[in-house]
Amino acid sequence: MRMLEVRNLTKRFPVEDSIFGKPTRFLTAVDDVSFGVERGAVFSLVGESGSGKSTIARLICGAYKATSGEILYMGKPIGRTKEDYRNIQMIFQDPDASLNPRKNVFAIIEEGLRIHKLGSSKERREKVMGILESVGLDRLTVKKFPHELSGGQKQRVSVARSLILQPELLVLDEPTSALDVSVQAQTLNLLGDLQKEFSLTYVFITHDLKIVSQFSDYVGVLYLGNIMEIGPVDEIIDNPLHPYTQGLLESVPQPDPSKKAMNEILKGEIPSPLNPPKGCPFITRCPKAYEPCTEKPGLTVVGDRLVRCHLYDTGGN
Ligand SMILES: Nc1ncnc2c1ncn2[C@@H]1O[C@H](COP(=O)(O)OP(=O)(O)OP(=O)(O)O)[C@@H](O)[C@H]1O
Ligand SMILES: [Mg+2]
Repeated sequence: MRMLEVRNLTKRFPVEDSIFGKPTRFLTAVDDVSFGVERGAVFSLVGESGSGKSTIARLICGAYKATSGEILYMGKPIGRTKEDYRNIQMIFQDPDASLNPRKNVFAIIEEGLRIHKLGSSKERREKVMGILESVGLDRLTVKKFPHELSGGQKQRVSVARSLILQPELLVLDEPTSALDVSVQAQTLNLLGDLQKEFSLTYVFITHDLKIVSQFSDYVGVLYLGNIMEIGPVDEIIDNPLHPYTQGLLESVPQPDPSKKAMNEILKGEIPSPLNPPKGCPFITRCPKAYEPCTEKPGLTVVGDRLVRCHLYDTGGN
């Protein structure tokens, strides 16, 4: 059984109210998305801004209700029990927004233990100190307030706060994108170490395919709420099949100047999800678009992967 199973997940947001108070239009942020995550694996979701990554994270953590589809955790619909909320923790992109500025580091990290009424005050103190060490923060940090910490330190506090409840699954929504490049690398290394040390399972969200290649087992590439390609990360990085994945990979800065011209693939604006293109979501930017693409492709099995592209339709085009 897979730890997390996302099946045909769709989320629509109402965007306009008529004078009768009924929504007249819907924005499809997540469109029939399915994936599974094995225990102990790192599954990454990659896509540009607005592709629906954070919406999926919030759906998994129970902050949003799905329009349709289901999310199973250990084979059961997620969020039904108090344990689920303990076992699944989320780390946000912006630690400033998620750390209470009026609480010191000790109180922030200890809070989950208090809410779940776990341990005596002495046991809680020991746990906080232990976890502080695991995330590489000095013991003296406990007395500090968020504004006294650097960005990297704040994100370590966020990680400590999530780990204190000994979760099984961490949903990390662009956990390093607010950090300087050097701190990003340190934080990623830390997250990698913690994943092994605590046998954690990650859903790791990023817009940066570079990070994915060093960090995950499986990857799903999202575009306008749709999975465009999904499969083992090594295969996708070595040989991206979907033109969008190819574009994302080429837009990773290349040390080789002869490859620069290829960065042109992803030019053009992402269409508004309020007014998505008819047919393939990627049709307006795809260098390989041809007639069949005016109809939306389904997901085709190619080896260990699924690809949403008419170029790989069974029967060959
Ligand atoms: N609460 C909401 N109400 C209405 N629309 C929303 C809401 N949350 C997200 N959206 C829309 O859903 C789409 C997906 O948003 P989401 O935040 O999931 O994207 P993302 O991939 O996380 O982007 P980013 O990389 O910028 O964080 C966007 O078009 C966004 O405007
Ligand atoms: Mg987001």
